[in-house]
Amino acid sequence: MALGPADAGFGRRERPAGLAAGAPLSRVPDPARALGLVAEDLLACETALRQLTHTDVAAIPAVARHLMDGGGKRLRPALTALGARAVGWKGDLPKLMAVGELIHLGSLLHDDVVDDADLRRGRAAAHRAFAPAVTVLSGDFCLARAVWLAAEHGGHAVVTELARAVTEMAEGEVLQLAATGDLNLARAAYYDVIDRKSGALIAWCCAAGALGLGSRDAIGALLRYGRGVGRAFQIADDVLDYVGGAGKDQWADLKERKVTLPLLLAFEQDPSLRERVRNASDGDALTRIGPDIVASGAVARASAAAADFANEAISALDTLPASPYRQALVDLGAALADRAA
Ligand code: IPE
Ligand code: IPE
Ligand code: MG
Ligand code: MG
Repeated sequence: MALGPADAGFGRRERPAGLAAGAPLSRVPDPARALGLVAEDLLACETALRQLTHTDVAAIPAVARHLMDGGGKRLRPALTALGARAVGWKGDLPKLMAVGELIHLGSLLHDDVVDDADLRRGRAAAHRAFAPAVTVLSGDFCLARAVWLAAEHGGHAVVTELARAVTEMAEGEVLQLAATGDLNLARAAYYDVIDRKSGALIAWCCAAGALGLGSRDAIGALLRYGRGVGRAFQIADDVLDYVGGAGKDQWADLKERKVTLPLLLAFEQDPSLRERVRNASDGDALTRIGPDIVASGAVARASAAAADFANEAISALDTLPASPYRQALVDLGAALADRAA
């Protein structure tokens, strides 16, 4: 299980000496404290996830457990819990938290088939351990189970926004397929892909409690926050493809000529890298260009862009009432742009 800060992969930064812990709306990220605030909710969510993926069709829980037991940061449940508690939503929180993680599980099962990935969460991707067909169909189960759960525990606005988020995820994944190999991809097109494929669900998680309450201002603030940190998070994920260590295949994006922010910035800085990527004969040749892309400074600049998006997102929270949960969203938002896994 990956609930503790040691497993969470956030927070490489240390709090600078002399800054008091717990200061209101501090911009010094403290993801361990943020996650600690909802540690009990996260444990209850784990139990719920195991129950919710149970069915007498034995292959489905086998696939789901293979993925769940591999680890994972449980970022989406954590954001759901913090967002819901920040606005005072009263309901079955572990179930609401499980909605976003079930959607995420379904999307990962599908994504690894689409990306032909070998590794997920440090173990064989589910479609390598099981047949691709049963993996895809188990992904469908997770997505549908999530929508059912949202209807039971959230209400109309919660389900409508969730359906919108899942629709966007599918659009983002297909847009990305179409853009793969386009070495002139514009930055705006890249942001459009990642906002849809990752930002939409993360935003839903942040705003789920507010959507359940129907409080317009809080919905707007939390959706804006979630969109921004979602973008920052996906940029950080794209950076991990170049720096490795995330329990996933390194250089997977580069080998597919998937243009993400590090590559896009490297091309802007040094157009000869674009030609080298275009002319590389195979995946191994592309991998050998990887260190030059890192050395160009583009990976560091992509990380800096992620931090800027996260900081802008955090400012959306200023309109929410002050609480430890709002502060935790601030801390987690900052850490998401600078994660190690
Ligand atoms: C991976 O998400 C897929 C993306 C949208 C970047 P996470 O990095 O949250 O994956 P887990 O849940 O921790 O494995
Ligand atoms: C994952 O995108 C997004 C979804 C699952 C919708 P990526 O393909 O970039 O994520 P990883 O790197 O495989 O986790
Ligand atoms: Mg992938
Ligand atoms: Mg993908």
